[in-house]
Amino acid sequence: MANFETITVKTDLLIVGGGMAACGAAVEAAYWAKKNNLKVTLVDKAAMDRSGAVAMGLSAINQYVGLKDGDNTLTDYVQYVRNDLMGVTREDVVANIARHVDGSVHLFEKWGLPIWIDADGKYVHEGRWQLMINGESYKVIVAEAAKNAMGIDNIYERVFITAPLMDGDRVAGAVGFSVREEKFYVFLAKAVMVAMGGAVHVFKPRSAGEGLGRAWYPPWNSGSSAYFTLKAGAEMTCQEVRFIPVRFKDAYGPVGAWFLLFKSRATNGIGENYMQTRADELQKWVPYGKVKPVPANLRNWLMMLDVMEGKGPIFMRTEEAIGNLAEQYKDDPKAYKKKMKELESEAWEDFLDMTISQALLWAATNVAPEEKSSEIAAAEPYFIGSHSGASGAWVSGPEDLQNDKTKADYFWGYPNMTTVNGLFAAGDASGASSHKFSSGSHAEGRIGAKAAIKFILDNNTEPNVDQAVIDGIKKEILAPLDRFAEFSKNSTDPDINPEYIRPKMFMFRLQKIMDEYAGGVTAQFMTSKAMLEKGMSLLDFLKEDSEKLAAEDLHELMRAWENVHRMWQAEAHVRTILFREETRWPGYYYRSDFPSMKNDWKVFANCKWNVATGDWEMIKRPIHQIFA
Ligand code: FAD
Ligand code: ADX
Repeated sequence: MANFETITVKTDLLIVGGGMAACGAAVEAAYWAKKNNLKVTLVDKAAMDRSGAVAMGLSAINQYVGLKDGDNTLTDYVQYVRNDLMGVTREDVVANIARHVDGSVHLFEKWGLPIWIDADGKYVHEGRWQLMINGESYKVIVAEAAKNAMGIDNIYERVFITAPLMDGDRVAGAVGFSVREEKFYVFLAKAVMVAMGGAVHVFKPRSAGEGLGRAWYPPWNSGSSAYFTLKAGAEMTCQEVRFIPVRFKDAYGPVGAWFLLFKSRATNGIGENYMQTRADELQKWVPYGKVKPVPANLRNWLMMLDVMEGKGPIFMRTEEAIGNLAEQYKDDPKAYKKKMKELESEAWEDFLDMTISQALLWAATNVAPEEKSSEIAAAEPYFIGSHSGASGAWVSGPEDLQNDKTKADYFWGYPNMTTVNGLFAAGDASGASSHKFSSGSHAEGRIGAKAAIKFILDNNTEPNVDQAVIDGIKKEILAPLDRFAEFSKNSTDPDINPEYIRPKMFMFRLQKIMDEYAGGVTAQFMTSKAMLEKGMSLLDFLKEDSEKLAAEDLHELMRAWENVHRMWQAEAHVRTILFREETRWPGYYYRSDFPSMKNDWKVFANCKWNVATGDWEMIKRPIHQIFA
């Protein structure tokens, strides 16, 4: 039997994840912990320098409010997020992040991140809220600050966090295993900050064959945040609000810089601009159909209608946009040439900063963006509560932003604490607070970590976990290795075996179920009660078979557990789409049996897995408007 050495680490605050939210949490927690003589420990499944969604770098900071400069108010930002999410948003949580995000951006700049500056010394904006950066080393810079604050001895890299540890109704730490050495880790903590990102590869990706696995969202974020919080018994929110990004087709290059900075249009196969030809459709989705900017999902929807009518392909008109921007220099050949070179290099840098594979695809297919349009398409669904999706844990807001109506529903003592005592969440892990992006996730990590330290000081008792429980969990986590060792010789091909299922096959099965029944690409993002119920029954069989996962080595053991985490994210998603009997975000998913938005569904659709009984509970929570 696989019997790894067990390493026990006792700490006060445990941060799980090493991405933007975790790095923010690390910097803040280290500061308050030092003052109070507490210990903080951080665990990342990868190496913090290049882990998470910012691994390749980014070309923009998507949330900067400019509060001090008087550019915008908190109300402006809350209105933007509320409208983009069709009214479904926690205004207290959004505003709390928005009032702290500029501080994180200024820290990034201080730590060495180059933010574009114009001739007047002002930040160059991509759009109203976005700043242009030379962001190839963004994550390295942010991670360095976190590491310096924490001290390297308090950081565990390449340890995959598998499950929470509980002490009654309070979180008591986490368990995981090294993906490099035969070591099983037990982290005992008085509070835990969950920041393990969102989830990809729950749905079948568009990529196939030689590009298989390529997706917009990073492949290493596999639903661990959702699994961890669900298994701890935390209430979850917006599990139906997946994100479908429209991206440059096949390599998933970003579109924001093209639409906002280059002021590009997208047109269909016969040259029509769907934002104009389909403008009437927006009336069906008022009040959100008439706000500016048009909500992301409605922009998707207008494009999807063209595609469904056979009017594809859809093109980003890069050549037209570059031509328009250079037009004013036309009379001066030297200035024109210089401007064209500048635009060309900005176009390539946008991809080279954050989606290098798109630059490779351009090179491989002889695309010169100043000469030729590029195809864009709606990607498969992802779970990313920090972007234009909203899935995550239901967390307490800050006290000072509540009013008489909201306090009972939105505040329970510590900002960003989930409904489980001592369990905090930030970034993709916390829900109903979209459009925080990289900078807002960092700020939210800081907010949550400060509150977590306060929680520890108010509840400073040692966690108590039964050794027999830990032994049982260890056995369960390592079981896939034993299964492979015992049965792999029973068949000539180790991939095909009556005794077990390998993680890759398991993932394909999950993706096929979700794609076909829960509104993936194949189903044109459409589903219904009957489809979801059929999908749920297939997920039940998958769940049974998850007990038969087998792993040949440590890497595959990680793959096995990643897919269990994805499966839980999938179940929360299917159950919540089923629960919400309306279509609210048509460009994210469309319920054919409830094809319109309904006033009585202007609520949060929450869910909770009952730790004692294993049953799921679906809950409606009120949406309170706090800002004008
Ligand atoms: P992440 O930063 O993704 O971090 C998750 C962390 O959890 C990683 O360290 C990961 O290794 C770790 N982890 C996962 N599972 C486990 C486990 N089981 N055990 C231990 N550790 C685990 N934002 C912008 O501001 N500007 C942009 O231009 C921009 N572009 C983007 C482009 C892409 C392709 C994507 C995907 C996102 C983009 N964003 C952008 C959004 C931004 O990257 C996210 O909002 C932000 O990274 C979310 O922070 P997070 O900490 O929640 O997750
Ligand atoms: S990124 O995460 O890969 O950078 P993307 O490039 O789509 O995302 O968008 C960057 C920012 O621009 C996000 O804040 C997004 O909401 C915004 N954005 C993208 N396209 C549009 C558009 N057509 N109108 C308004 N905002 C947009």
